[in-house]
Amino acid sequence: MSLQKPGQLSEKHGNVMSADQAGFSHACGILRSGGLVAFPTETVYGLGADATNARACASIYEAKGRPSFNPLIVHFPNSAEVEQRVIFTPQATKLAKYFWPGPMTLVLPRRDDCDIAELCSAGLESLAVRVPGHPIAQELLKRSELPLAAPSANASGKISPTTAEHVAHSLGDRVPCILEGQACSVGLESTVIDLTGETPVLLRPGSLTQTEIEAVIGPIVLGQSIMESKAEDKQSTSKQFKSPGLLKSHYAPSLPLRLNATTVLPDEVLLAFGPSPLAGAAFTENLSIKADLTEAAANLFAALHVLDSQKEIKGIAAMPIPFEGLGMAINDRLKRAAAPR
Ligand code: TXA
Ligand code: MG
Repeated sequence: MSLQKPGQLSEKHGNVMSADQAGFSHACGILRSGGLVAFPTETVYGLGADATNARACASIYEAKGRPSFNPLIVHFPNSAEVEQRVIFTPQATKLAKYFWPGPMTLVLPRRDDCDIAELCSAGLESLAVRVPGHPIAQELLKRSELPLAAPSANASGKISPTTAEHVAHSLGDRVPCILEGQACSVGLESTVIDLTGETPVLLRPGSLTQTEIEAVIGPIVLGQSIMESKAEDKQSTSKQFKSPGLLKSHYAPSLPLRLNATTVLPDEVLLAFGPSPLAGAAFTENLSIKADLTEAAANLFAALHVLDSQKEIKGIAAMPIPFEGLGMAINDRLKRAAAPR
């Protein structure tokens, strides 16, 4: 026991809870009602939400203050649960057998009946999936009976947290429950491998090494961002990333998208926001009738997909979205989707 000076904080930060019976049932209650729970994995702490609840996932971006919608990793208790959501390739089956549970994330095509919020895929046809090995993460996944979307539990642009105190310090009251466990053993984010193309691509290096991966599935190529960071290293003999098209990082609808529309043109469908959608559209998807930005973020990618699939349409008109809170990320994504191709 350490001696406390008067007035010094001796108890845990208000939202930090022990991972015991009471802690788990509190955390499960929060998750089931669409709230956020930070929990340890063997890599770093994750900021978790029910991955089937788009609104809960939108609040992850809100809490982190992320200026854009990066896709999220979804965590499962075992491979069987993963296989219900994504299409396994023979390589995925091998890697899962060797390295799950563990610090490895696989990017795989979503199944047609995938129940995971489209926001987790940020509009892509793929989903990043992981089975963590940390006993607290495992227990939370089993007890909640929910797949958990969880990026690292730090404010956007800050370093990833490996203790409950780091999370409390970075996110404070923006996360109502932080489950406390011993410090994350790996302390480095999971290795991310994209298996959606012909050749596996290492998208993010992590504690599982390229050599370990290649011992199981043979040669893999390095993703663009890794190639860039290796560019200065003249001695580097790493394999070239051959197919730039493989890294489809930004979803864009096939129909042209017109931003900040104040009228609807003939043969346009409408991406509306707020209680007064523009008149005259062949078809309308309203992101939020109440003009609620969290609801709008939750609906964004699903709405774009629906609009994009309408027949005999010339384009999508998007009403203005306020540049505040999650509106920043929504505008960022709409701007990318509207960029000339
Ligand atoms: O160790 C970890 O991976 C931690 C723990 C909590 O699991 N999570 C984590 O999540 O680091 P985050 O959101 O900070 O990083 C997710 C990474 C990003 O680089 C993201 O671009 C990539 O995974 N990613 C997620 N979904 C993807 C997808 N469908 N396609 C390509 N990359 C994806
Ligand atoms: Mg992160």
